[in-house]
Amino acid sequence: MAEILEPGILKGVASTTVNKLLKSGFTTVESIAVTPAREIAEMAGMGRDTALKVCRLARMHVDPGFVPALEILDMRKSMIKCTTGSGEFDRILGGGVETGAITELIGEFGSGKTQICFTLSVTAQLPVEEGGFGGNVCVIDTESTFMPERIMQIAEERGMDPTKVLERILIARAYNSEHQIILVNSLPELVEKSGIKLVVVDSMIGHFRGEYIGRGNLSERQQKLGACLSKLMRVAEAFNIAVVITNQVMATPDTMYGDPNKPTGGHVMAHSCTHRVYLRKGRQNTRLARVIDSPSLPEEKIRFALTAAGIEDAEE
Ligand code: GTP
Ligand code: MG
Repeated sequence: MAEILEPGILKGVASTTVNKLLKSGFTTVESIAVTPAREIAEMAGMGRDTALKVCRLARMHVDPGFVPALEILDMRKSMIKCTTGSGEFDRILGGGVETGAITELIGEFGSGKTQICFTLSVTAQLPVEEGGFGGNVCVIDTESTFMPERIMQIAEERGMDPTKVLERILIARAYNSEHQIILVNSLPELVEKSGIKLVVVDSMIGHFRGEYIGRGNLSERQQKLGACLSKLMRVAEAFNIAVVITNQVMATPDTMYGDPNKPTGGHVMAHSCTHRVYLRKGRQNTRLARVIDSPSLPEEKIRFALTAAGIEDAEE
């Protein structure tokens, strides 16, 4: 599906320009289309106007602007869903974690966000007929919580070869928010080259919250976070892959009734994610999941369990 970048493919763009793009790592038309013009100018050392033109032309290859609704339906048909490991969880997600979308897992510490990411990193490798994506996985780990041993255990429990499963997960530790942004920006090429069908960012917001402290820095933080999320969304759509991110909660002391915890990241986070899943601790190894703010899914609360196999349906 991806169009290889070569001289002549973008009408009216000089081959010297195309060569500059190739040299700075843009190998496909899609990788240009999902990168802001400003960045292209910087990376490839070309004028803003040239970069804008290149970008616009590339986007025409990828995104034709207004399209008939029927075409969107066709696009949605190419969407596939991956099992979370729990049938109940899959059900409230409308069948599983879907491609072309960002699924956000929100919850306090120990609510199971990372365990769900681990399980998906394994199940995504299952063939499509068995409820997976039949693809490879890329994990951006910002909290150094990625545990290969746990992945192996989940794979083994699910009857998969643990070493092969680990081989198909590419993992990058992001040391700060700038590093996280660089890693996200490198996704178009990686996804293409490495057959990635699932990208996990655990956690999406930890570094941003830790680095931009105080009201005065909030708008800059939100702007950077928003740009990073929109890049992830464009990658999800352009390459028809699934993106799963995690988010924390923050106590709001002024709450009178109900759960005082609210997702962090404000409106930027809320509007950038396609499906938001709110997780809470239940009795023992059980957890509660509820889909909030989804354009297509009803709000329903279910129970699942953290087990040796990652996550599974809770016993009655
Ligand atoms: P933070 O990253 O701290 O915000 O939390 P989180 O939501 O990512 O929590 P995580 O997914 O790491 O869940 C931690 C829970 O998973 C703990 O209650 C552990 O007991 C449980 N857990 C971790 N490993 C295993 C395991 O091998 N088997 C079982 N049954 N449970 C496990
Ligand atoms: Mg975690």
